[in-house]
Amino acid sequence: MKILVLGSGGREHAITWKLSQSKKADKIFVAPGNPGTGEIATNIAISVNDFDAIADEVRKNNIDMIVVGPEDPLVNGIWDYFNNRPEFAQLKVVGPSKYAAQLEGSKDFAKEFMQKFNIPTAGYFTANKDNIEDAILFLKKVSSPYVLKADGLAAGKGVLIIEDLNEAISELKNMLDGKFGEASTKVVIEEFLDGVELSVFVITDGKDYVLLPEAKDYKRIGENNTGLNTGGMGAVSPVPFFDKDFREKVVSKIVEPTINGLYSEKMDYVGFVFFGLINVKGEPFVIEYNVRMGDPETEVVLPRLKSDLVEILDAACNSKLRDIIPEYHSDAAATVMLVSGGYPEDYQKGKKIQGLDIQNQSVVFHAGTTLKDDDIFTNGGRVLAVSSYGLDIFKALEKSYNTAKQISFENMYYRKDLGFDLK
Ligand code: AMP
Ligand code: GLY
Repeated sequence: MKILVLGSGGREHAITWKLSQSKKADKIFVAPGNPGTGEIATNIAISVNDFDAIADEVRKNNIDMIVVGPEDPLVNGIWDYFNNRPEFAQLKVVGPSKYAAQLEGSKDFAKEFMQKFNIPTAGYFTANKDNIEDAILFLKKVSSPYVLKADGLAAGKGVLIIEDLNEAISELKNMLDGKFGEASTKVVIEEFLDGVELSVFVITDGKDYVLLPEAKDYKRIGENNTGLNTGGMGAVSPVPFFDKDFREKVVSKIVEPTINGLYSEKMDYVGFVFFGLINVKGEPFVIEYNVRMGDPETEVVLPRLKSDLVEILDAACNSKLRDIIPEYHSDAAATVMLVSGGYPEDYQKGKKIQGLDIQNQSVVFHAGTTLKDDDIFTNGGRVLAVSSYGLDIFKALEKSYNTAKQISFENMYYRKDLGFDLK
């Protein structure tokens, strides 16, 4: 099978790494990819949102399957683009339809879906310019802190958590006035849920699903989960409190009702579902759906998947997931993100990275790097994801930290306390 992976981050390097271990993968292309994917696959310099250019590559390289990494092309309708063209009838696109991708692309759509299928989630009210008075009444009814979410995609920045009621009301107005552009024409106001977050992933064919290993990511830039939110500073898998009892609750109250909901709503969906969950006193609630894998969660989830990913994705595309029983590695995995100093605010690019060639016990996934004359330079905020196995997440973290110490670039930063809250 010839496979095209779309994306250029650590997630896509990890997906490519896992696919490349399959005997069923004859050739893998990545668009646009990064120097890490370039070592194990063929990079193609086109944008993930240029569907016509992707179609040209599919024709030219006889691609059998497209695996979509980031949400943008999914929310923009890449599945529909190929599905509506008879020429591509044989092509398998791993991803939801544009309609189903609204589970990530519109918070209001996701909330309505959860409400319809009784999936536990925070109480909410969707505000727009015409119902501000009712929105303020809802804010007055729920207690502080107040959660305001831009309805549409806002590059991970569209959620505000505010202590003060008057500030929440004024931010609500700012959002509706276009603080996040089109994305905040509607604002979902939610009850605040107090608990510990975790990420659960499945691959679905729209009817059945296989559960992947769960993970916990660390979003804040600073130690002890302080400072600004980032794309993710590291992740671990398994999650110690995801025990049999909690897993059963997640599966029966969240995963199965979601997949049954997709099916009964006739939503075309082949691919990954990422459940952003929160554990509130032993009960799981959905914070958000994503229609893709997480980054950096993928960098621990796929190393822990023992089964052949090409086989699972192929079965999903053929509506045969029911026959698949996934196998996991019993070892834990942990990834530490090495970032550019200053990230997630201003940071510099173009710093030469040393130490990538040193033998170590980790897999180093490239996130924001570039290749110039045989040397690798930083090219983003999140630069490298260092993943390792271990008997438990703490031993895995220790190995990733040992590897991190051998790698260097000017102003390199990483969190040294990952896992602190799981001891
Ligand atoms: P989201 O983009 O919906 O995942 O929200 C971003 C982050 O805001 C989440 O990872 C949570 O840490 C936090 N958050 C979102 N919704 C809530 C909520 N209802 N209660 C508490 N925290 C929340
Ligand atoms: N690590 C969180 C995400 O990928 O959305």
